[in-house]
Amino acid sequence: MSLTPKLLKDAQIKLNNTHNPVFMPQFGFGTAANADELEINKEAIKVAVRDAGIRCIDTARFYGGGKIEYAVGEAIEELIKEKVVTREELFITTKIWPNQWNKAQESLDKSLKALKLDYVDLLLQHWPICFLEIVNPATGELYGTPHDEKTGKPLYDETGDYITTYKQMDAIYNSPNNTKVRAIGVSNYAVSQLERVLADDTIKTKPSILQVELNPQLNQEELVKFCTKNGIVVIGYSPLGSTGAPILKLPEVNEIAKAHDITAYDVIVSWFIKKNLAVIPRSLNLQRVAKMKYYYDLTDDEVAKIDQIGIDKPYRHIDEDFTAILPGFTGRVKTENK
Ligand SMILES: NC(=O)c1ccc[n+]([C@@H]2O[C@H](COP(=O)([O-])OP(=O)(O)OC[C@H]3O[C@@H](n4cnc5c(N)ncnc54)[C@H](OP(=O)(O)O)[C@@H]3O)[C@@H](O)[C@H]2O)c1
Repeated sequence: MSLTPKLLKDAQIKLNNTHNPVFMPQFGFGTAANADELEINKEAIKVAVRDAGIRCIDTARFYGGGKIEYAVGEAIEELIKEKVVTREELFITTKIWPNQWNKAQESLDKSLKALKLDYVDLLLQHWPICFLEIVNPATGELYGTPHDEKTGKPLYDETGDYITTYKQMDAIYNSPNNTKVRAIGVSNYAVSQLERVLADDTIKTKPSILQVELNPQLNQEELVKFCTKNGIVVIGYSPLGSTGAPILKLPEVNEIAKAHDITAYDVIVSWFIKKNLAVIPRSLNLQRVAKMKYYYDLTDDEVAKIDQIGIDKPYRHIDEDFTAILPGFTGRVKTENK
């Protein structure tokens, strides 16, 4: 049976825990590309906004070793100059990487400079982790993920407490002169870590958002239930299973796609929208990006069938060595000192 396409740009979610009303598009464009993909990433963002009507862009201080925010900034500047959008029509997210866990203000200011913006719509703590601040002698820049040269192990700052980053973000958000951030949240937190933030009376503004890996193979049921109960909106990252989009090869997903004559990609995006979750896929293929416009009303049975994939055989795609200290991660993928 064919389904009527619905416009993604009309799907919005109201955030809780904000001083002023903030509506976030449910669909955003991911930008976690490599440092040598700046030009194509910039072009992809322009196609996403101009041709697909996407208004939400997810980036981070650390993407492309700190270079991607510049590409995002250039794309936004050109789109505004070309009168495709106004700044107010866009929803821009950035994040604080754990090598600046104790320097939230400095990280935010660097992001704003790279993005050429006066404010971001959403600021997230990227990981509940504290890295040592170590300068790479070859570049003069901080290592994003510092590793011990002898043991190859990630170098954490043992004096650090991950909640410090969120407390600093809370202070920025609640400073009487704050014009730089419209909402704050966290990423890669587990229920136990969220509980700690929610129970801490020194924190004035609880997270509006939790951003975590979420896709049919990792449906994060427990986390989503907890967030829904506590008014925290969930954004799913790596919705396609990250590089190579392995999720799009799952037979259950393709069966549903075939039944409606839509693509496996359409099925995944529609699954997120139906579940009231936000989603931020990435693509550098301009033809694909231009088509990121629609979702379809899946049935409850189809949603349940997709949910079952992760219940039967859960699998986490983003699982780098530095995450091994976090609940639910194994740290199986070796990361280089970078
Ligand atoms: N908070 C965090 O810790 C965190 C972690 C990871 C990611 N994120 C965010 O989430 C975003 C998305 O996650 P991700 O980058 O890991 O990957 P993803 O969106 O799950 O998958 C990206 C891959 O899917 C391919 N793809 C996209 N559309 C496709 C289509 N229609 N058909 C076939 N292949 C398709 C892309 O290839 P092409 O380029 O060739 O289309 C790319 O290889 C990131 O960019 C980032 O903004 C956040």
